Amino acid sequence: MKVWAVLLLFAVANAKHEQYQGWKSYFVKPFNTVQLQVLGSVVEKYGIDFLSNPAVERNGLALVKPELHEDFIKSLRNHGIAYKIHAEDVKAQLDIDDELMEKRRRKSSGMKNGTIPLDNYLELEEIYDYIDYIAEQYPDLVTIISPGNSFEGRPLKYLKISTTNFEDKNKPIILIDAGFFGRDWITPSIVLYALHNLTQSDMLHDYDWILIPVANPDGYKYSFTNDRFWIKTRSTDQHLLSIVCPGVNVNRNFDFFWNTIGTSNTPCADNYAGSKPLSEKETFLLNDSLGEFISRVVLDISLHSYGSLILFPWGHDGSLSNHAFALQSVGVSIADTIYANSLPDFPRYIVGNSALVTGIETSGTGIDYAHMLGIPLTFNLRLPGIEEGTEGFQLDPEYIEQLAKETWAGIVVGARRAAELFGNTRN
Ligand SMILES: *[C@@H]1O[C@H](CO)[C@@H](O)[C@H](O)[C@H]1NC(C)=O
Ligand SMILES: *[C@@H]1O[C@H](CO)[C@@H](O)[C@H](O)[C@H]1NC(C)=O
Ligand SMILES: *[C@@H]1O[C@H](CO)[C@@H](O)[C@H](O)[C@H]1NC(C)=O
Repeated sequence: MKVWAVLLLFAVANAKHEQYQGWKSYFVKPFNTVQLQVLGSVVEKYGIDFLSNPAVERNGLALVKPELHEDFIKSLRNHGIAYKIHAEDVKAQLDIDDELMEKRRRKSSGMKNGTIPLDNYLELEEIYDYIDYIAEQYPDLVTIISPGNSFEGRPLKYLKISTTNFEDKNKPIILIDAGFFGRDWITPSIVLYALHNLTQSDMLHDYDWILIPVANPDGYKYSFTNDRFWIKTRSTDQHLLSIVCPGVNVNRNFDFFWNTIGTSNTPCADNYAGSKPLSEKETFLLNDSLGEFISRVVLDISLHSYGSLILFPWGHDGSLSNHAFALQSVGVSIADTIYANSLPDFPRYIVGNSALVTGIETSGTGIDYAHMLGIPLTFNLRLPGIEEGTEGFQLDPEYIEQLAKETWAGIVVGARRAAELFGNTRN
């Protein structure tokens, strides 16, 4: 009896990640902008999924399905692009990630009366429990707003944090979001650390804060239960094919050069832009609910994983906005601060225009849209990820706390600089 139970458990555990049987992952390193552009077109042509975008002389990590191995490698060879296998068997590496998390879960005693849970990647419920706890503990500072529900009916949530209940219109607002993409599991942890720190530090005197811990809860949940690499929402009402291929890419769904480049019209693609701008409840409700604050926001940081990049507009054509100098300068301040607080093994952040740094043009992104609405400083901050020689697809959970602290240190400096530069012009 017991043996059967064990065997059954084993079978269930191994049935996970079945859809990635036969997939391989590759480190790919372009040495100049020409090779970077070539990689961009390979992505376009084959729909290769870069878990981490390559930059010049910086490894990207490509996930390649079995039927594309040959063509993908051939394209790289034809253009002399350096590559190296990361995982011969993507499913096996995903199982390693699971084991690491499971091991830590057994060691951890769970959330102890609201201790900040930074020792592991967090389930959606754990994230919501923590913010509820903090909002209860600090009712004068922290308010949870739910502008409505996700497509699958989960509450969308963001936090307003202020010593003056958002009533002092002279205070600049700092906006931080996480969890646009289901699979970006490390990003909500950074927001939870920010929340924790804001209740303890002096960063509330001069600024109001809006934190979005998980912008796309359905996608986040689905990446835990069904598909580790899931990016999109889970909507099924966008296209005839949405029933078989649900979901829209949140970061292609905003109303700025919507669906013009770096997007797809088929819902089966990861970069499907939706049936119209703000078609998703996750984007529409956010846009609707945050509208009244936009004119006071001086800094908007959208947290993603991964690649150690700080990217800014415009993404659709690589041109520079009127605020390009401030974007570059504040981006470098954030990067330098993170570096000064970082571990020696983590790569240094690259700062720049998103299309120029990654070689991939993208339309309808959150940061381009927010910048178009008038927020002077908008960044897509891609946290550090795995390096050559490491196993699995996510950073060992033991580094989460370190990343949260160093990233927060960078955000604090970014907030101060943003307020110096734009605090008087934005209210
Ligand atoms: C949690 O708080 C309760 C009530 O304040 C207390 O009785 C309990 O000992 C605490 N538990 C832990 C693990 O700190
Ligand atoms: C999105 O927000 C902007 C700025 O508040 C507003 O002008 C626009 O009408 C909103 N879009 C939709 C579709 O509600
Ligand atoms: C809050 O963040 C600041 C800036 O990184 C740091 O110096 C401080 O120690 C943090 N405080 C707490 C209570 O975590």
